[in-house]
Amino acid sequence: MAEQVVTVENLIVRYGSNTVLDGVNASFNVSEIRVILGGSGCGKTTLLRAIVGLIRPYSGRVRVFGREITDLDGDEAANMLKSVGVLFQNGALLGSLTVAQNVALPLEMHTDLPPKLVEEIVRYKLAQVELPHAYGLFPGELSGGMRKRAALARALALDPPLLFCDEPSAGLDPVTSAGLDSLLLKLRETLGITVVVVTHELFSIEKIADKILFLHKGKTLFDGLYTDAREIEDGPVADFFSRKETA
Ligand SMILES: Nc1ncnc2c1ncn2[C@@H]1O[C@H](COP(=O)(O)OP(=O)(O)OP(=O)(O)O)[C@@H](O)[C@H]1O
Ligand SMILES: [Mg+2]
Repeated sequence: MAEQVVTVENLIVRYGSNTVLDGVNASFNVSEIRVILGGSGCGKTTLLRAIVGLIRPYSGRVRVFGREITDLDGDEAANMLKSVGVLFQNGALLGSLTVAQNVALPLEMHTDLPPKLVEEIVRYKLAQVELPHAYGLFPGELSGGMRKRAALARALALDPPLLFCDEPSAGLDPVTSAGLDSLLLKLRETLGITVVVVTHELFSIEKIADKILFLHKGKTLFDGLYTDAREIEDGPVADFFSRKETA
């Protein structure tokens, strides 16, 4: 059996009396590209936030690289999160820092690398996301797509073996979005990283997804191969994909 990078068991997450995740089960294997699907507001971002420890679940278990994350203390959690890159749904670059300084942040926080080496890594990461020219610019001087790619460079700064991307192509033009998909595929091929992506872009899903996790009414409705998901004939999964034919 392939090595499991993330395991989620009976995860329940509530915001006050609103139960958003109501017993979610999932496991993500090494080097797979996993796409999380489900209607708006069904809890996709919430699931990602619970997996990276930003939300404390009401109950259930989340293991990342074999460690139960709710058991970790502050230092251990920070250490574990070095191995996890996150591209948040809303970007979140620091506006008062240049793009280069933003990408350098995780390196400065988590390593003792000399400034010259940090600079080299930052240049390499920016080249990787095709933004070498943005090095000295401020986030406010970038387009939406460029900001997203800069945030991805920052998420990749520490070469994480696990990368989460929450709607990476929302608001991007099709060409930029396809470029991002190619980059994710390349990262998986060359570095063998596990990529977990929330997206509802059908072309993207078709291009990158090995496996799908489909959330519905707080539960896992489907967890399996993309090709098998496409065989489903009725219900929310079929409805989701049939948009393609009607679009
Ligand atoms: N910090 C919060 N406090 C209270 N309720 C929240 C919070 N974050 C999310 N929710 C609620 O939890 C539900 C799931 O939100 P979430 O952002 O996880 O959905 P999503 O599947 O990512 O949606 P989208 O596709 O629109 O990004 C929503 O009903 C939302 O209102
Ligand atoms: Mg979301």
